[in-house]
Formats: sequence, C-alpha cells, structure tokens
Amino acid sequence: MRADLVSVLRCPVCADGLELTDRTARCGQGHAYDLAKQGYLNLLPSASNGIEGDSAEMVEARSVFLAQGWYEPIREALIESLPPITSAAPLVVEVGAGTAYYLAGVLEAGNKQHAEGASSNVPSAIHTRPAAQLSTWRGIAVDVSRYAARRAAKVDAAIGSVVGDAWRELPVRDGVADVVLDVFAPRNAGEMARVLTPGGTLLVVTPNQAHLGELIDVLGMVSVDGEKERRLVESLAGFDRVGQRVVESTMRLDHGAIEQLVGMTPSARHVDKQARSERIGVLADPTDVTLSVTVSSWRTA
Ligand SMILES: C[S@@+](CC[C@H](N)C(=O)[O-])C[C@H]1O[C@@H](n2cnc3c(N)ncnc32)[C@H](O)[C@@H]1O
Ligand SMILES: [Zn+2]
Repeated sequence: MRADLVSVLRCPVCADGLELTDRTARCGQGHAYDLAKQGYLNLLPSASNGIEGDSAEMVEARSVFLAQGWYEPIREALIESLPPITSAAPLVVEVGAGTAYYLAGVLEAGNKQHAEGASSNVPSAIHTRPAAQLSTWRGIAVDVSRYAARRAAKVDAAIGSVVGDAWRELPVRDGVADVVLDVFAPRNAGEMARVLTPGGTLLVVTPNQAHLGELIDVLGMVSVDGEKERRLVESLAGFDRVGQRVVESTMRLDHGAIEQLVGMTPSARHVDKQARSERIGVLADPTDVTLSVTVSSWRTA
C-alpha cells in the first residue's frame, strides 16, 4: 500500500494517525500494523474479532458477477452523482467496499477527467481545472472481510485496502474524504460524517422493492421491505439528502449468472448450494431479472 494512502488512516487503538515505514504502519503511540503479504492492512479493532463479513465464496461470486457488467448502470450513476471536487488529490472512501468495483470505477472516471483537463466529454458534475494542477484520485476501501480486502488490494495502486468494521470507528482520519461511498453496505452515519471533509458528499446505493424481484420467492432471497425509505433516512441522521436518482434495467441472466448473483448475497448463507442450484434449475434460462436501485447524495446538515 502506498505511503500517502496509509497517511489518511488512523490507529484503531488510540486514533492517532498512521504512517508507513517499510511494510509497517505505525502510530505515534507505538502501535504497529504489518501490511499483509497480499497488500492490505488489518485495522480491525479487537472488539470486532469474529464479526462475519463476506466469505471467500461470496467474494468470488461477487467478483465474477460484477465482471460481467450487469451492475455497470449503478457504477455509471455513482459517477454521474459525483459532486464538484476541488481538492488537489481527491480521496474517496468506500465503506463495505467488497471487491472495490465501484470505488475503482469512480477513481477511473476522476482520473479520466484529470487526463482530459477541461474537455467537455465528461459529466459536468466533476470539477474541471487545468490538467497540470490536478493530482490523481485516490481511494480507501474498508471491509470487514479479509477476502474482500485481498481483492480490493489488487485492483488499483491508488486504492488502499483496509480490514475495518463499519459499526465501530472507521480507521480513517477526521475530515479527509471528499466522497464516501456506501453501496449495499452497513451505514454508520456518525463515522461517515467524521471522515468526510466539511461539505463532502456521501453517496449511498440502496435496493428498491422491485430489485431482483423475479428471484426473491423462487430462491428464498431476503426481500427489500416497504419501510426502506424510513430506515434509510433514520440511518443517516445528521445528513441531508441533496439528490437522488433511480437506476433501473432488465438483466437477461443465464443460470450461471443467477448462481453468482445469489451466491454474493446474504441469502447464500441461508440456502445450501445444492438446493440453490435445484431452485435455479426451474427458472427459464435465461431469465429477465429487474435491477432497481436508488443512488442518493447526502451532505452533513
Ligand atoms: C452486499 S456487500 C456489498 C459490497 C460492495 N459494496 C458491492 O456492492 O460490490 C456488503 C459488504 O459489506 C461488508 N461488511 C459487512 N459488515 C461489515 C462491517 N461491519 N464493516 C465493514 N464491512 C462490512 C461485507 O463483507 C461485504 O463485502
Ligand atoms: Zn495507536
């Protein structure tokens, strides 16, 4: 992990900033964390030991499914929702980042903007300045699953991958993130607000009721409840919603893609693999499946 990425992190024990020397991140109080050989940093507070993030199989299924591009419209909507960014080296923190698919896409779009300077062929929301003044975008991927962290560490040298617990204090310094992403992941409003720069933006992706509707009953997947809007607003106390867009498409998924899609959700834990394959077997091949999510933008009140 690059030293400039370690410098935006903080110690999970004493909250002092971390700095990288050789392959060890250290705080001023002498706490030390070795980089894993796969390149990520484990900053999980000891109180979170044993907490279950995505398993190796779930992360693998997610990686294969996302690589097929079915959720590309979500990634595009996130890019289009980016606020104007004025910092010299924009930092995006993704909480519950999984394989860092969305984070990588956002950084790539930011860097493309960087390369193109003031060219008009990019979303107007991204701030344009003369290319010479811009540094490249950087990201921190936080996930409680070390399997996810391993993947995220390999995606892009501009991404620092960290094992951390969203329900505790994020291992990120105060006020460093221009943007925080939360895509189908736990939302800890207080911590997300703390790591954002003043005026920074939180982008949240939540499923709508129609999302994957064709699969829910057949496959015993967890459905989206009707109280989702209330829960979203309650979970983001201290933030104001400043925008939202609905993303919808129909995905024509073959049985293999459905296996991966179900395999990457929490439902994978409840239904065993063979039962899942049998249930998928009764579906048409391919089956049209609805993608329906909302991307919302939030700023601290
Ligand atoms: C539904 S997945 C979404 C992953 C990624 N955002 C995406 O959409 O591809 C939820 C992710 O949150 C992670 N997660 C669950 N509980 C967490 C926690 N307490 N802290 C950090 N990450 C957590 C899981 O390991 C998993 O990678
Ligand atoms: Zn410390």
